[in-house]
Amino acid sequence: MKLVVGNQKTYLNREQVLNFIEETKEGKCSNVVICPSYVYIDLFLDKSKFLVGAQNVSCKGNGASTGEISAEQLNSMGVSYSIVGHSERRSDQCETSEMFYEKISKLLENDIIPIFCVGEHLEEKEKNITKDIVGKQVMEVFDRLDTNTMEKIIIAYEPVWSIGTGKIPTNDEIIDVTCYIKDLIQDKYDKRVAVLYGGSVNKNNIDTLNEIDVVDGYLIGGASTKSEELLYIMSKCE
Ligand code: 13P
Repeated sequence: MKLVVGNQKTYLNREQVLNFIEETKEGKCSNVVICPSYVYIDLFLDKSKFLVGAQNVSCKGNGASTGEISAEQLNSMGVSYSIVGHSERRSDQCETSEMFYEKISKLLENDIIPIFCVGEHLEEKEKNITKDIVGKQVMEVFDRLDTNTMEKIIIAYEPVWSIGTGKIPTNDEIIDVTCYIKDLIQDKYDKRVAVLYGGSVNKNNIDTLNEIDVVDGYLIGGASTKSEELLYIMSKCE
């Protein structure tokens, strides 16, 4: 069984969310986390059987942080996962490893599983420095964490050039980076983490991706907003 995480970004309006929930209600959801926009979290918790995740979380606890959502608030709603460090937040919101460490710490304190995204840009892949980049992204956060909490964190390997482009690494490339991340954490901290693959996962490539044993699941953007496509992917990941 693979973990399926849907990052619905800001793709859907309320009516589309309600249709999506209705259309997916017969799917087997025990290994499926949907991360809707904050404004629809309550709808998913109320009306669907999916596990529910957030797409982001505040670096700070409850208090004077206008426009933020804290880990404690997410926990009080029933949210059990949160994405941290997505490349769109690294680039659009200039988020840093320091912030990811704070966010992950707050999530862990509130019993929410962080899904920490790492991945290289195309120029970095072309320079053959993917592992340097991904290793640095991981270590800048993991070096500061209490080792006892590390196995609660899920890492999502998302090559930036693959997000929303339809381009996808070969299985060998995904295996290489996934093993690199797992070995890095095993060798340095003696801990095992789950690693997801994300970037243009869809119904046409899920069978090929599923040939990879070392990957523990998928972080899916666009395809997770289309009920028929998500149901198909879910059926392949049971
Ligand atoms: P796509 O599946 O649309 O490429 O998006 C991937 C992603 O960013 C998931 O976090």
